[in-house]
Amino acid sequence: MACSVGDDLDSPEPGQFVHLDALAGLALRRPFSVAGVPVAGLLELLIELVGEGTRALSALHVGATVSILGPLGHGFTMPPPGTPTVIVAGGVGVAGVRFLAQRLERRGERLTMLVGARDRDHLLHNLLPEATEDGRLSLSIATDDGTAGLAGTACDLFAQELVRIPNEAVVYCCGPRAMTDAVGALALERNLRCEVSLEEVMACGTGACRGCVVETTDGYRTVCSDGPVFDARTLVIESVPHA
Ligand SMILES: Cc1cc2nc3c(=O)[nH]c(=O)nc-3n(C[C@H](O)[C@H](O)[C@H](O)COP(=O)(O)OP(=O)(O)OC[C@H]3O[C@@H](n4cnc5c(N)ncnc54)[C@H](O)[C@@H]3O)c2cc1C
Ligand code: FES
Repeated sequence: MACSVGDDLDSPEPGQFVHLDALAGLALRRPFSVAGVPVAGLLELLIELVGEGTRALSALHVGATVSILGPLGHGFTMPPPGTPTVIVAGGVGVAGVRFLAQRLERRGERLTMLVGARDRDHLLHNLLPEATEDGRLSLSIATDDGTAGLAGTACDLFAQELVRIPNEAVVYCCGPRAMTDAVGALALERNLRCEVSLEEVMACGTGACRGCVVETTDGYRTVCSDGPVFDARTLVIESVPHA
């Protein structure tokens, strides 16, 4: 979905999100990552159909008007130039890292992209920058049912890749919580810097209602305004399930 916002919104940073008023009559706005900014004033969103709000958005006609709040939250920290980077994305988590991948590609950074989905039809790797022949940008895919790439998850790809990732690399991850927890734990074991983007059910989206808190080493923090991107070291993870 492409949204023309003109000068009404500040320019988003990778990892930030917008809060959309999907349908008159729905009490809550719906949060979506900014998946790209092809030109100033135009936002790209990738929306998976889940329930009432996303169905209402998918039914909009070209030219329809939607109330947008944003850009909201704290996005990813851009690495110093020349830092090797790894992006791990599961399912629609590709939306949360796509803008970051585009920025890193434009900066000419070395980027390893590891993308998973439940099956071949749900893979979104083709929305990320293309792999290059010189290996500067590489892409590996995994599917839960083995219909494309590795039979497994994006976290399994990350576990395989760990031995090749240089110590100075930064890892960025977006996907289901079990996956971000597992990737974060593996990255920390290897002493790699890792940032994860979290999803929580949101109401206000601006830090006021405290309905979206997660436990961190610094107490409870709101995903909407302190996040959605957190340094993996600061998140309290009770146990790390297999992602
Ligand atoms: C920071 C952030 C970024 C997101 N980015 C994207 C994105 O780029 N693309 C995308 O497809 N989805 C994204 N999501 C998930 C998306 O917000 C939900 O799928 C969507 O709100 C579901 O709304 P619904 O009315 O269709 O579903 P319903 O299930 O009917 O929603 C009921 C309520 O639950 C909330 N909800 C349901 N699922 C989620 C979820 N996974 N995360 C948070 N709240 C949820 C809804 O906002 C709503 O308040 C993001 C969530 C967050 C928190
Ligand atoms: S949604 Fe209200 S504080 Fe996060």
